[in-house]
Amino acid sequence: MSEPRVDTILKIGGSVITDKKGELAAKTDEINRIAEEIQKAHTQDLVVVHGGGSFGHPYAQRYGLKEGFKEESQKVGFSETHHVMTVLNGLVMDALVWHGVQAISITPSSCLITESGRIKDFADVPLKRYLNMGFMPVLYGDAVLDTKLGFTILSGDQLISYLALELRAKRIVVGVDVDGVYESDPKTDSNSKLLKNLTVQDLKELQTKLGKPTSTDVTGGMLGKITELVPAVEQGITVIIVNATKPNLVYKALKGDPVEGTIIRKG
Ligand code: IPE
Repeated sequence: MSEPRVDTILKIGGSVITDKKGELAAKTDEINRIAEEIQKAHTQDLVVVHGGGSFGHPYAQRYGLKEGFKEESQKVGFSETHHVMTVLNGLVMDALVWHGVQAISITPSSCLITESGRIKDFADVPLKRYLNMGFMPVLYGDAVLDTKLGFTILSGDQLISYLALELRAKRIVVGVDVDGVYESDPKTDSNSKLLKNLTVQDLKELQTKLGKPTSTDVTGGMLGKITELVPAVEQGITVIIVNATKPNLVYKALKGDPVEGTIIRKG
C-alpha cells in the first residue's frame, strides 16, 4: 500500500458545532454550513476532526474520565461519553454525506490506544486505505483506552497534530469560535489583541502567558490547542486558526486563500 500524504487536516472545534453553555446542544445550522463549505472547497486529501463541545465535555467531566479509571461507576460514564460523541459525529456525517462529500467516519475509541494520555497505538491501515481511495476520513475527540490509566479522554487537538505528522500534511486548519489566538483570553478581556502571525518561539512564550482553560473544557481550551500544535509546527506544518462561526472562513482557508485569523509557522 502506498503511504498516503494529505494536504490538510481540518479541526472543527466543539464550540463551533455545539452550544457549550447547554448540554447535548448541537448547532445543526452551523454543522450544515460547514459541511457546505467543505463540499464547496473540493479539497483533495483532507482529513476532518471535530471536537466534543456540549456533547463530550460535560460527560467526561462528570465522570472524571480524563484522569483515568478509578472506580467501576465511571465505566457507564465512559460508555455515555463515547456514545454522545457518536451522536454528534452522526450529525456531522449526516451533513457531509447529504452534501455529497465522500466522507467516512473513523472512531478513535475502536482503533487507537493512548499511554498516559498520549497516542501510542493507532491501527491506521483502514484510514490510509480510505485516503488512497479518495475518501475523506472524519474523526473526533473521544473516550479511549489507555495502557496506564485504563481509559482517558483524547482531544481532537492531539489527534490533528498526530495525524498531520503521520500523514505528512502541509497544513492544519483549526476552526474555533474566536478570530484566532489572542495575547490574552478575548472572552474575558475585550481589549485583547489578535496575534496574526506566530512562530514556534512565540507559541512557547504564549504557553506561559495564556489563562487557565474554562472549567468544562476537560482537554484544555486554546492553551491546550497551542501546546498540542507545537510538534507539528516544528516539523514545518503551517497552522491556520480561523473563526469557523463566520461564514466562508473555513472555505477560504481550505482553498488556500488569504484569510483573517492566526497563522503559525516554524520560524
Ligand atoms: C473532546 O474533544 C472530546 C471529549 C470530551 C470526549 P476536543 O477537546 O477536541 O473538543 P473541543 O473542540 O474542545 O470541544
